[in-house]
Amino acid sequence: MTIEKPAKPSLEERIYNYVMNGRVVKSIIRSGYPNTPRNQMLMVATNVFLHLHPTRINRTHVKITHTFCLGGLSFFMFLGLTITGVLLMFYYVPSVERAYEDMQAIQSTVRFGFLMRNLHRWMAHSMVLLVFMHMMRVFYTGSYKPPREFNWVVGVLLLVLTLLLSFTGYLLPWDELAFWAITVGTQMVGSAPLFGEANRFILIGGYEVGANALIRFYTLHVIGLPLITTVFMAVHFWRIRRDGGLAKPL
Ligand code: HEM
Repeated sequence: MTIEKPAKPSLEERIYNYVMNGRVVKSIIRSGYPNTPRNQMLMVATNVFLHLHPTRINRTHVKITHTFCLGGLSFFMFLGLTITGVLLMFYYVPSVERAYEDMQAIQSTVRFGFLMRNLHRWMAHSMVLLVFMHMMRVFYTGSYKPPREFNWVVGVLLLVLTLLLSFTGYLLPWDELAFWAITVGTQMVGSAPLFGEANRFILIGGYEVGANALIRFYTLHVIGLPLITTVFMAVHFWRIRRDGGLAKPL
C-alpha cells in the first residue's frame, strides 16, 4: 500500500494561513484586543506613535480647557508646514533671477500652487500665534514650575526657532516687502553691541541683502532650522513624559 504525500500548499494558501494563524497580526499587535485595562495600557506602551502618550492620565487633563491642545496644534502646524514646504520646493529656485518669478508661477500656473503657498503662509502665521498662546497657557497654569523648569527653557528655544523660521521664510518671495523687511531686520542685528556688525555680515553674506543672503536664508529655512526644531521638539515631548506628564491643576 502506498501512502500519498499531502499536496504542498500553494503560495497563496501559505500566505493566507500565515495571516489567518495570526502571526502577522500578532507581530504587529502584541498585547491582544484592548478590551481590558491591562491590554489597553500595553497597547499604548508598545506602539511607537502612541507611546508618546502616558498610559494613565489625570482626569482633568482630558478636558479640552486644560491645554486647549495649543502645544499639539503648534506641532500640527509644524507638520503641515513641512509637507506644504516640500511641495513648494519642487517649483521654487532660490536665485535672485528666479525667486520672484517662481513665486508668481506657483500662484498662477502651478496646479494647487495657490493653495499650497497660502496654506504655507497661513500655517506659518498660525504657528507663531499658537506657540505664543501655548506659552501663555503654560504660564497661567503655573506649569513652568519645578520639575518642569527645564522644559520651559526648551520651550523658549522652540519659540525662538519658530520666529527664526518665520523670519528666514519672509525673504524667499524676493519682492519689495521681503527685501526691505529683511534689510531692516538684519540692520537691527547689526546695531547690537560688540559682534553686531560681524553677525550681520555672517547672516547675509555681505554688506547688503543680495544673492548671498537669499541662499543663506533659504538653506537655513529648509534644512538648518527645521532640523534643529525637530530635535528640540523631540526633547520637549520626551521631557513632558519624564516630568510625570502634564502638570496637575493648582
Ligand atoms: C514649537 C513649539 C512648541 C511645541 C510644538 C510644543 C508642544 C507641546 C505639547 C504638545 C505639550 C503638551 C501639552 C499641550 O498640548 O499644551 C507641551 C507642554 C509644555 N510646553 Fe510646549 N511646545 C512648544 C513651545 C513651548 C514654549 C514656547 C514653551 C514655554 C516657553 C513651552 C513650555 C511647555 C511646558 C512647560 C509644557 C508642560 C506643560 C504642563 O505640564 O502642563 N512649550 N508643549
